[in-house]
Order: sequence, then C-alpha cells, then structure tokens
Amino acid sequence: MRPSAPAADADAYPPPVETGGAAARRYHARYGSVLPAIDPAAGSTAPKHHPGVPVLPLPFPPALPPAAAGPGAAADPEWLGALLAPLNGVTRVGWGDTGVGAGRPVPSGGGTYPAEVYTATASGLCHYLPAAHALELLSPADLRADLARSLARPPLEPPELLLLISTRLTANLARYGPFGHRLQALDTGVLTGQALTLLESAGAAPTAHALLAEEEAGRLLGLDPGTERVHAVVTAGPPGRLAPDAPLLRRRTARSGFEPAPVAPADLLTVLDRASRPVALDHAAPVGCDLYVVANRVTGLEAGCHRLDPRTGRLARVAGDVAPRDLFPPGGPGELAGFEAACAVLVTGDYESGYAEYGDRWYRMLNLRAGVLGQRIGLAAARAGLGAGLRCDVDTAAADAALRTPADRTTLLAALLGRERGSGAPVQHLLCPAAPG
Ligand SMILES: Cc1cc2nc3c(=O)[nH]c(=O)nc-3n(C[C@H](O)[C@H](O)[C@H](O)COP(=O)(O)O)c2cc1C
Repeated sequence: MRPSAPAADADAYPPPVETGGAAARRYHARYGSVLPAIDPAAGSTAPKHHPGVPVLPLPFPPALPPAAAGPGAAADPEWLGALLAPLNGVTRVGWGDTGVGAGRPVPSGGGTYPAEVYTATASGLCHYLPAAHALELLSPADLRADLARSLARPPLEPPELLLLISTRLTANLARYGPFGHRLQALDTGVLTGQALTLLESAGAAPTAHALLAEEEAGRLLGLDPGTERVHAVVTAGPPGRLAPDAPLLRRRTARSGFEPAPVAPADLLTVLDRASRPVALDHAAPVGCDLYVVANRVTGLEAGCHRLDPRTGRLARVAGDVAPRDLFPPGGPGELAGFEAACAVLVTGDYESGYAEYGDRWYRMLNLRAGVLGQRIGLAAARAGLGAGLRCDVDTAAADAALRTPADRTTLLAALLGRERGSGAPVQHLLCPAAPG
C-alpha cells in the first residue's frame, strides 16, 4: 500500500517557522511515533550530483592508511579518499534476495541513503560521489572560515576539515511517507557517528555540530533549501594516522537472520560500553539517552528487559515478561527477526526535555543522537563478531510499555543482535584494512 499523501500545511515538516516544539510535537504524534507505512516497491530519489562542475577521481581502493598525516593532510586527495570511502563509499559487493548490489560501510533506513557529504578544506569545497569515489569541485576557494561562522559554537581553533552532512528532504518519502523525515534524522546521526569514529581514531579531535545556521551553510554550498539542507557539520583538527580496522570496513546488516544461539554477556556489555561513551557534540542533552536490553538468549542474563545503569555500566532488571519479538508488530518481519535474535538493544530519549532550549530542531537533534548510538552499536557488534541489524519498525507504544519507560521518555531506535545465521549472505569486500601499527 502506498504511504499517505504529503502532510498538509499545518503539519508541514520540517516546520517553515520556529514554533518552540509545537510543530515537532504534532509531527511526532502523527507520523514519527506511528509505525511507518512502507512501500517496498517505491525507490528512493537519485543521489545528488552537480552537473557541469569538475570531477576529481580519488584513488580506489584507497591506501589505508594514506601516506599523509598532520597539518595539511585533510586537503590531500589521497587522504580525503581514505576518509570518505570508509565513511560513505562503496565498500563491498553483496548478493542478496534482490540480486547483486553495492554495499556501504554505514547502514541507512531502507538503503535509501538520504544524506550527502560535502568537504571543506584548504583546497576548496567539494561534494562526494560515493558510487564513483570522486569529488565534485564546487569551489576552489577556502570556505572553512565562512562555514565555521555558520556554527553556533565553532571550535576554538580554526578547523582543518569540515564535513557537511546534508539531507535530501524527499529521498525516502516515496517509501516511508512522512515518517521518512524522522528516519532522515536517524540516518544523519549514523553518518555523523561514523565520521566521529573515523576522525577520533585518527586523533583529529572531531566535534559534531547540530546547532548551525542551516540556511547560511546551505547558501555557501549552493543548496536549494526546499530540497536539501545541511543538518550536521563535523569539524576536525589535523589528523594523525587514519587506519580503519576490518570490522569498520566489513560491518553490514545481518540479512541472513540469527542462529538461535546464546551470546556471551561480555560481548553484550562491550557493545553497551562503546555505545554509551560520551559523544563529541556541540550541545548537551538536557536529558541523556538511555540504553535498554531485551534479552532472549544471553548466557547468564535472565530473559526480559534490563536497563543499563550509565554510572556503573551494569544492567538492572526492569521486567521479565518481554521478549525482543514483542517490540514489533505481530506478523511483520521485525517480529520474526526479534524471535531469532539473542537480544534487542534499545535507545530511548526525552523529546520534551529539549524543546524549551532548542525549539523544534531538538526533535532532529535527539534522533541524530540516537543515530550516533545506533552506528556505535552496529560497529561494536561487528567488532565483537556479532551480527546486528538496526530497526525503525518498532511498535513505539508496545516498546515503551515493555521497557516501562518513565514519563516523556520514548523508544527512538532498536538494534537486534545475535550470531548471524550460517556465514551470512555472500559478499566481496573491496577495501583492505590497514596493518596494525
Ligand atoms: C535508522 C535505520 C533504521 C533501519 N530500520 C530497519 C528496519 O526497520 N528493518 C530492516 O530490515 N532494516 C532496517 N535498517 C537497516 C537497513 O535496511 C540497512 O542498513 C540497509 O539496507 C543497508 O544494508 P547494510 O546495513 O547491510 O549496509 C535500518 C537502518 C537504519 C540506519
């Protein structure tokens, strides 16, 4: 069934004028907290490209690590290519139900990839073309200082590199209807999380900015604000050795399902520990995100719902009478996946806590934060040798009831974890991890 028609004006999202949270509340009640009507036959809109501008091919596969490091490295095409491929490029060829396809290092709701990546360095402003692994040169001018001025809280030192993450506003709406806007915010968070992981591992002290003058940043990038907007900016200092490891390059959704086998509690705790570390954002959350586990088959952990205590890093039991499959609508693919999974990890947050300070944009900021945690959960699971799959098809009301979330807190995102069935769907990985060093 096709998703409902675009929202009427009163429900317009993103809201054309700031309403202090009223528009975001309306959107969430009508579309964001309701199970998406998914039209699997609908495609996503074509990725962005800028006809007529010079295209600079980047070496593929990139040398990992690239030779360059330190001040000036970020302007080196080889270094940029070595960052962008594991950020959002094509890292594998896979064979699935629908045939052969290219795979990316980051997950994206429905594989629609609504986000675009722009780079600002001393060498100019570029747009990344993932499929071609090339840069479109939008301007040879150094626009870093102008772009940094669009940030509400720019870094103290002028950034060496800015990664501007935009969203194509209609990219996934044919498939998801207006729910797609919330999914876009989660996707922005996933990509932002990947940028932070890569740049942190290279010692470039990155910060992700969600507080920015979107119109000004979009104007500098030449975007049409009606179709594409900058929703996050990651700033970074001079990088050291950029050497993504094998799990980062090989992460993928566990499409073959899960073995009905238990996972070790230490693996689950490692995932939770990595997910709950502080996120280098330009703003504090008035109320932080909480992590819950709904355990099915975790050795030594009672089945049921547990909440991670962020102070002790331990799981506290919440309720016994819930299994991962109960978080999804009966009869749907989520229920089946939940039945097989060893456990579900859920991210919850509080919308009401942030509207007073941040206005409507808090809605997006909170989902961005959940997306960062989702990226970390997927990557930490891959590092622990576990299969994982992010899911937005959670029945929010059922999940909130199962988790017994306190008032105003709600479920934002779920990830199912377990041992992937067999050896997974056939895949050819295209990038080789750097030698340790
Ligand atoms: C925010 C988000 C929500 C997702 N929700 C679902 C979901 O509800 N069901 C599902 O099967 N996959 C879901 N996915 C996984 C994507 O379908 C998957 O990432 C995409 O098809 C690309 O495949 P890959 O992860 O193997 O690279 C979600 C991914 C993200 C980032």
